[in-house]
Amino acid sequence: MTKRKMIEEFEKVFGTSEGVRVFFAPGRVNLIGEHTDYNGGHVFPCAIPLGTYAAIRKREDSKIRFFSLNYDQNGIIETRINNLKFNKTDWWTNYPKGVIDQIKKMGIAFSSGFEMLVYGDLPSSSGLSSSASIEVLTCLSMIRLYGIKLGKIKTALLCQKAENEFCGVNCGIMDQFAIAMGKKDHAIYLDTATLDYKYVPIKLDKIKLVITCSNKKRGLGSSKYNERRAECEDALRMIKESEECANIKTLGDLSIEQFERNKHYITDEVKLRRARHAVYENMRTIWAVEALTNNDIEKFGQLMNESHISLRDDYEVTGEELDALYDAQSKMKGVIGTRMTGAGFGGCAVSLVKEEYVDEFIEKVSKEYTKKTGLVADFYPLSVGGGPRELR
Ligand code: GLA
Repeated sequence: MTKRKMIEEFEKVFGTSEGVRVFFAPGRVNLIGEHTDYNGGHVFPCAIPLGTYAAIRKREDSKIRFFSLNYDQNGIIETRINNLKFNKTDWWTNYPKGVIDQIKKMGIAFSSGFEMLVYGDLPSSSGLSSSASIEVLTCLSMIRLYGIKLGKIKTALLCQKAENEFCGVNCGIMDQFAIAMGKKDHAIYLDTATLDYKYVPIKLDKIKLVITCSNKKRGLGSSKYNERRAECEDALRMIKESEECANIKTLGDLSIEQFERNKHYITDEVKLRRARHAVYENMRTIWAVEALTNNDIEKFGQLMNESHISLRDDYEVTGEELDALYDAQSKMKGVIGTRMTGAGFGGCAVSLVKEEYVDEFIEKVSKEYTKKTGLVADFYPLSVGGGPRELR
């Protein structure tokens, strides 16, 4: 999508295009470290070139008018800056509304409303964070339009709060952080307990990052996401009964040895498996970044596969479609590693594939996946994209 096209579309919907500015925020793909962010563990996501665009302009009055090119049949959705309420039927606009609500809670008074036309090229409900993308997009647009002072990490935290409090999804910080802090050709190694982070260059020599969209839709709110989170909290409470673990704050504080010595305190078999995933996945993420830093891409790939298996067997968030993708992809020639990415329950897989095998990979996986599930997968060979920005 170009700036010019966004402005043209804006003009068609809102009459004129004087004073319109255009912003972009990426989506993200998580390479490893899944369901660790609300357990105080490490994650390793990166921004992707696909994302969400906004053409936006302040109004004179207090109206806010939203329009999405992806859902143009819904027409203009209208609200007022001093009357922001979650409304299920307002659907995607609840994300920007939630962000503005949080900005207002910082004590910032908006002098007027605005009109905002949005377009996204991220497949929606696919685990590539279209919701965090639109949150960060809104926050950046507000910062620039209204001269608000807010750094990138604070932007991420504000957007997460908007999603937790306004939209009722108890997500961790990974998505908003990865998007607000995205950097071209780098993944972000983030310790979610401290928010310490490091950019790690993703220089893949003759290897492609391929995202496969299962086209099995995933709704975070309606999924078992909040349930998993609660199961981990219960497991933490139980293991803290042990003297050795009494002082830990999160499952991410546990080494594998500590966990193995004390796991019998978690008396519920399901919660034990959830905790095992959280502890081992955190370690896998640490090892994976070490491996990448040492140019050991094979090891990185192997850890990706182990991550999928743990998400399938211990965390139980993969589902038939993502497992069908894994089964097909993990055995293909040229595949270094592959796993589901994001919350799970449908959505996308991420794979590292040797360049010369990418075409064959797409052709064969596509056939096998459709044969098994009846669904048609979409493939996106991608590079690592940059962070949110204004289009000049
Ligand atoms: C969703 C959430 C993130 C994270 C992932 C799973 O994307 O928004 O905070 O928990 O699921 O790793």
